[in-house]
Amino acid sequence: MKTHDCVQSVLISAQEIQQRIAELAQQISQDYRNKGLLVVGVLKGGWMYLADLVRQLSIDVEVDFVSVSSYGRGTKSSGKVNLLRDLTTDCGGRNVLIVEDIIDSGITLSHLKDLFLKRYANTVEITALLSKPSRRKIDIPVKYVGFEIPDEFVVGYGMDYAENLRGLQDVCVLKREVYE
Ligand code: IMP
Ligand code: MG
Repeated sequence: MKTHDCVQSVLISAQEIQQRIAELAQQISQDYRNKGLLVVGVLKGGWMYLADLVRQLSIDVEVDFVSVSSYGRGTKSSGKVNLLRDLTTDCGGRNVLIVEDIIDSGITLSHLKDLFLKRYANTVEITALLSKPSRRKIDIPVKYVGFEIPDEFVVGYGMDYAENLRGLQDVCVLKREVYE
């Protein structure tokens, strides 16, 4: 499948993404200055956002990753979160910031937040580059949101459809005929 056959339009350009990340990075740097921060990226979708975010922070942070899957090859959450890779760091007593590409139903993030709190993290906050508020099933506070977007399936900037299209520089809307 060629990219231009799958993509309907650019929703957020690479330049808009970088501008917004600069604002979020400034806020996060301010909030965690002198407090110590463990940044936890959610693989696979969140890696590109994490890479750009930490480079724009003005504080030093520790970085770790978890890998979860809830979607399989579809475009809707299966409702069950599988932890495929766990932290390699002990999050007990730490200030944790979970870095996610997009929050949709909220199931993945609420699962991860509960998990880190159960392990006695001091604080657990969330940043998601994108949020689809109309699809939320679990009401979970996301302290740092990049953009609120409508209920469209998006790809690019780390996000995939069936493992494809992660490398696009812009956040793009996937044509409905690709998955319907
Ligand atoms: P949630 O558990 O339903 O909030 O799902 C969050 C995860 O689903 C995200 O981390 C993404 O990996 C994936 N996801 C949700 N919406 C989209 C989308 O529009 N495009 C690509 N992946 C998505
Ligand atoms: Mg994800």
